[in-house]
Amino acid sequence: MTNIAILGYGTVGSGVAEVIGTNAELLKKRGTGLYVKYILDLREFPGDPYEDRVIHDFDTILDDPEIKVICETMGGTGAAYKFTTLALEKGISVCTSNKELVELHGAELSRIAKEHHCSYLFEASVGGGIPLIRTIVQGLAAEKVERICGILNGTTNFILTKMAKEGAEFDAVLAEAQEHGYAEKDPTADIEGHDAGRKIAILASLVTGQNIAFPDVHTEGITKLTPVDFAYAKALGMQIKLIALYDTQGDKHYGIVSPRLIGEESPLSCVQGVFNGVLIHSNMLDDSMYYGRGAGRKATASAVVGDAIAAAASIGTTIDSGLTEELGDLAEIGTYRQRYFVRLKGSKSVRKEEVEAALGKGSIVFDVAKDEFGFLMKEEMEEAAFMQKTEQLQGVIDYIRVL
Ligand code: HSE
Repeated sequence: MTNIAILGYGTVGSGVAEVIGTNAELLKKRGTGLYVKYILDLREFPGDPYEDRVIHDFDTILDDPEIKVICETMGGTGAAYKFTTLALEKGISVCTSNKELVELHGAELSRIAKEHHCSYLFEASVGGGIPLIRTIVQGLAAEKVERICGILNGTTNFILTKMAKEGAEFDAVLAEAQEHGYAEKDPTADIEGHDAGRKIAILASLVTGQNIAFPDVHTEGITKLTPVDFAYAKALGMQIKLIALYDTQGDKHYGIVSPRLIGEESPLSCVQGVFNGVLIHSNMLDDSMYYGRGAGRKATASAVVGDAIAAAASIGTTIDSGLTEELGDLAEIGTYRQRYFVRLKGSKSVRKEEVEAALGKGSIVFDVAKDEFGFLMKEEMEEAAFMQKTEQLQGVIDYIRVL
C-alpha cells in the first residue's frame, strides 16, 4: 500500500479520492493499493467520508516520510508550482491534471523529478481520461509522429455540435452550455482556443522532444462562426470542428488551433458533444485514433490515479515524462499549405472565373444564403498567399480552413 496526498479537494481532487475508494479492492489485488493519507485544502469538508484527512499545511505532507506520491489537482501556476517543486526535490512523485502548469513548467519539473529519482506525470492534462500521453511517450516510442489532429476541448465541441444540429447562434448555445455547467462562467480559455492551444503545445513538445510553448501556437477560437457557416458545412456534407493541429511540412513544424471543415469520412467527424478525439499520423503505424471523455470529474481523476499507480510502482526511479528543456519552436503559419472554404458576395455565375483565377479550381456551393455563394478550394495554398489573394478579391465574407 502506498500513502498518497491530494492537493486541492475540488472537482478533480474529490474524484481522485472516489476512484481510489471505488476501485480499492481491485487496486489491492493488482498489488497497486493506494491510501489517501492527507488532503490539502483551505476549506473544511464536514460530513465528507475523507473529512478526517483534510489538512491545511503543506509542510505536514512534505515532512511525512510515508508520503511517496502526491496528486496535484489544485490548478493554477502559483502555489501548485511551488508545492510541486518542493515535493519533487524531496523525491516525492507528483501526478497532475494541471495543464497550465505542465505547459509552462513541465520540462523544468520533469528535470527536477529526474534529478531526485522520482516522477512528474501529467496524463490527465490532455484529453482528460483518454490515455494519450502514455500512448505517445511509450506506445508510439518507435514512431515518428508527423501529424496530430485533435478535438481537445469538450466545451467547444459541445457548442459546435449543438450549433450544427440546431442551426442555433453561438451566443445562445454558449449561454445554454453555461447554464448546464458545460462551459465556465468565464469561457474565454475554451472558446478562444487557448485551452486547446496549451494541450497541442504539450503534445507537440512530446513528439518533437523539444519544449514548444503555447504562444508559438497560432490560436483562433469559435466565436465568429454563424448558423450560415454550418448551413454551408451541411450542404458540403462536412462538419465544423475546433481542431488543434500539429503538423510537419518539409522540415517545418506547425501548431494551429482553428475551426476547420472536416469531411464525414474522417473519424474525427464522429466526435460529438463533450467528447474528445485525437487522430495521430505516424510514419510506421500510419493513422491511429484515440477517443473518450476529455473532461469531467471521474474521467480526469481516473487518469490522475493511473499515474499515481505507475509512480507508486516505480518509487526510487523516474518514469520518463517525455518533456525536455531543449527549446523548440514552431514555424509561422504563413508558409503552411492547406485548403480553404470561402464565402463570397455576389452571384456564382458572374464570379466563378474571377474566383478560380485567384484561388485555383474549386467547387461552388450556392442557394445556402441570399446574395452569396461558397467556394471550396481543390488545391492547397500557403496561408500567406491565400490571405493576399482574398484581400484582392472583392466581397469575401469569411473563410474556414479545411482539414
Ligand atoms: N475546459 C476543458 C474542456 C476542460 O472543455 O475540454 C478539460 O481540460
